[in-house]
Amino acid sequence: MAVVAILARRPVIHASVEATRPAATPPKGAFNALTVRHIPPSAQEAREIALGELLFGDTRLSGDGKRSCVTCHDVTTNGASGRERDLTPQGQPLPVNTPTVFNAARNFRLNWSGNARTLESQARASLQNPSIMGADLTKVARVLAADAATAERFHDTYRRDPRPEDIVRALARYEATLITPGSRFDHYLMGEALALSAGEQRGYKLFQSVGCASCHQGVNVGGNLYQRSGVFHPAAKADSPVLRVPSLRNVATTAPYFHDGSAETLEDAVRAMGRAQLNRVLTADQVADIAAFLRSLNGVYRDRPVTQAAPR
Ligand code: HEC
Ligand code: HEC
Repeated sequence: MAVVAILARRPVIHASVEATRPAATPPKGAFNALTVRHIPPSAQEAREIALGELLFGDTRLSGDGKRSCVTCHDVTTNGASGRERDLTPQGQPLPVNTPTVFNAARNFRLNWSGNARTLESQARASLQNPSIMGADLTKVARVLAADAATAERFHDTYRRDPRPEDIVRALARYEATLITPGSRFDHYLMGEALALSAGEQRGYKLFQSVGCASCHQGVNVGGNLYQRSGVFHPAAKADSPVLRVPSLRNVATTAPYFHDGSAETLEDAVRAMGRAQLNRVLTADQVADIAAFLRSLNGVYRDRPVTQAAPR
């Protein structure tokens, strides 16, 4: 299976800051689109990344001044939250579960439906969406400009007062650095045979042989295709839409699962996938082995393992 060969030959091996996005469609037979290059940021990029990190946690970017990107994307844990569905500023549950921002830069499209093509357009939409940040970007830029310390950061970085496009650009630059290499699976692919236990190795083989890897593939073990959720039977409770196949990196830390958050545990999700996507009833042992394999996909961000978010 060609896709598995790609996965096996090109593990993510270095923490990296990557300025470029992967090609939308990995060229057939060419592996270089999936390699991970370590490109140290230029001084300018480093300023943009640092500014983006500040903005990512800045509540002045929201309409009510009470929430920031971190409210739903906790980068000290799993890059998402522990909730089935996070809440709008009015306290209503959002229509979909919050995906992690970790490794989002390596997904070929963003959001469950894949309706955003770049981190910039995604960030702009998140900021303006009344259910997410509810911000008026012109107003936000004005508020930031009125704060001397923040205005100075923008001048250092972009040589001008804060502007909406600079806010979005800095956020995207920072998000592109939220990459989590160093999982045990990566170590295994690099030749450390003992990085995976026997059960995890069985799970990896099953993941390939039963067909999970036909959809969850490439450097993010997902994130590079559109497929229906519920090919043979419904997977999620809500409906069976065509979605961008989610990445499975760090998946053990982001329960509950599916676009509607309807699968409570990793085992539930694996079992449901077998039936929904492959028309196959996996045995309890197979589910356990595959789930064990998926737990080996937890990576490392800034020397700390990615962990589950505390329930809120
Ligand atoms: C109220 C919770 C909430 C807040 C606050 C929030 N997000 Fe999100 N984020 C979500 C949800 C829900 C989705 C999925 C949206 C969809 O699929 O349509 C998402 C999706 C994303 C994705 C796509 C990940 C992927 O792989 O598809 C990125 C990137 C992202 N958000 C960045 C941000 C940024 C930047 C901010 C701050 C400007 C932010 N988010 C604020 C809930 C939130
Ligand atoms: C036909 C393509 C396809 C196949 C085959 C497939 N998946 Fe999926 N997988 C998806 C899609 C699409 C989703 C999103 C479903 C949703 O949210 O409704 C998904 C979601 C998941 C999730 C939840 C991710 C999250 O963040 O919520 C897990 C775990 C998962 N798949 C594991 C597997 C396993 C294990 C197998 C093999 C038994 C498998 N998948 C087979 C397409 C596929």
